[in-house]
Formats: sequence, C-alpha cells, structure tokens
Amino acid sequence: MRLKGKKALVTGASRGIGRAITVAFAREGADLAVTARNAASLDGTIQEVRQLGRAAHPVAWDVRAVSQVESRLNQIRDALGGLDIVVNNAGVVRLPKDHPNPTDEALWDYIMDINLKGLYFICRGAAEIMKEQRSGIIINIASDAGLRAAPSPYGVSKWGVVGFTRGLGKELAPHGIRVNAIGPGPVATEMMNWHPGDSMESPTLPLGRYSLPEEIAGVAVFLASDDSAAVVGETITLNTANS
Ligand SMILES: NC(=O)c1ccc[n+]([C@@H]2O[C@H](COP(=O)([O-])OP(=O)(O)OC[C@H]3O[C@@H](n4cnc5c(N)ncnc54)[C@H](OP(=O)(O)O)[C@@H]3O)[C@@H](O)[C@H]2O)c1
Repeated sequence: MRLKGKKALVTGASRGIGRAITVAFAREGADLAVTARNAASLDGTIQEVRQLGRAAHPVAWDVRAVSQVESRLNQIRDALGGLDIVVNNAGVVRLPKDHPNPTDEALWDYIMDINLKGLYFICRGAAEIMKEQRSGIIINIASDAGLRAAPSPYGVSKWGVVGFTRGLGKELAPHGIRVNAIGPGPVATEMMNWHPGDSMESPTLPLGRYSLPEEIAGVAVFLASDDSAAVVGETITLNTANS
C-alpha cells in the first residue's frame, strides 16, 4: 500500500475522475474526505471507500464558496486527523444548461469560478495547513486543453491551472509540499457525455480510445506517493492528440 494512513481530500468526487481517484487512494490505504455540491451525490463513493475498510467523510461544498475554504479545510483536517493530500478535481466544461457562446459572461464566470478560482483558494488554504506540518501533496486536475491553443473559457481556465501549478510547485517545494497536475485528454465520463455502454473508440487519440477514469487515478496515486518525490510543478499529460 503506497498511501497507508494518509489523509486525503478529493473535490468533485461524486462521479467520474474524482470518484476513481478516491477509490484508488482508499485501495492504497488512505482515509478520505470527499466533496460535491450535494452530499447525497457522494453516497456511492462513500460506500465504496468504506467497503475497502477506510474512513470516508462526505462534505457538501461548492468550490465557488471561497469564503468557506478555511473552515471547510479545518473541519476536514479535524475529521480525518490530518490533511496530507489534496486533489483539486472539481471542474466543469459548460453551463448546466448548455450555452456554447464563448462571449457569454455567465459561461466565463461559471467556468473560471469553479475550475480556477475555487482551485486557487483551496490550494492556498491547504498550503497554510501543510506548511505547519512541513509536508503535503497537492494534485490539480488540469486538462490537455491547458497545454494547447485554447480559445474557450474552459481552455483558458486550464491554462491557468497549469501555470499556477508550476508556480506554486516552486513556491512550496522548500516547505516540503509538492504540487503537480494531471492533464488528461478525453476521459470516458459524463463531462464527455459518455455513459456506461457507450463506445470507447476515439480514433484521433493515440490509444484509439478514451482514457478511463481509473487510468487518471493511477497517475494521481503516483503523484501522491513517494515514487514521485522529485516531481515538482509538472503537468503529466495522458493519451492526448495535442502534443
Ligand atoms: N472527462 C474528460 O475528458 C476530462 C479531460 C481532461 C480534464 N478533465 C477534468 O477532470 C476533472 C473531473 O472531470 P470529470 O470528467 O470526472 O467530470 P464529471 O464526471 O462531470 O464530474 C465532475 C465532478 O465535479 C463536481 N463539481 C462540479 N462543479 C462543482 C462545484 N461547483 N463544486 C464542487 N464540486 C463540483 C461534480 O459534482 P456535483 O455535480 O455532484 O457537485 C462531479 O463530482 C475536471 O476538472 C475536468 O475539467 C476531464
């Protein structure tokens, strides 16, 4: 077990990549706090973690509520008995009611507030706790859209995540805190309008198919473990046609 006894927070863990990371961490021996906007949506994730014999704390938390960052992180640290790992996974690509117009201010605000502002302040809050411990791991879920020409609000938000991860990685490394990101290409989740039973095929991708959430989770375990002890401020891309 590579994360035995570690205390981890995963945002946006009700489904998709966040849920897969949560379960992979539990398998590696971590106790988890998991968030989503609605606590009931976390029931399945919580059940899986507990079946693996690990502690699981659901927290209803919209990551846009940055005024709650300090209290939520303290609450999670107290519930778990520490905070070793934070995974900023919560993210959106479109408005709940699809609105593809890139000049729509509501679309810009919604995406930036969740993908970048929420992530930024959670990183800053977690860094304060981890500095006291002189140790910690932060993993940001970016996207391959953060590494290529990206004229959409989503792409701009993910460029922000990649740049912030690089800067924060350098800033916090002397404090014993490692910050890195993962930049997946298309993954078979609801975000991609993929549902169980749908085809995995995607001929333009190097693997000829979408990545699985569990494949992203494997990289998250690597970044959370001592196996990546010298990796700082990087974004690891997966199965992307872009580069
Ligand atoms: N799927 C892909 O192809 C792909 C590729 C590259 C990067 N990514 C990134 O990977 C991350 C996860 O994506 P996914 O595909 O797993 O998406 P998903 O299936 O749509 O899941 C998104 C998760 O984020 C949560 N969430 C959304 N808005 C939130 C908010 N305001 N506060 C708290 N939680 C919120 C959702 O929970 P609730 O809705 O229950 O609150 C859900 O748990 C995102 O950052 C995404 O940009 C995805």
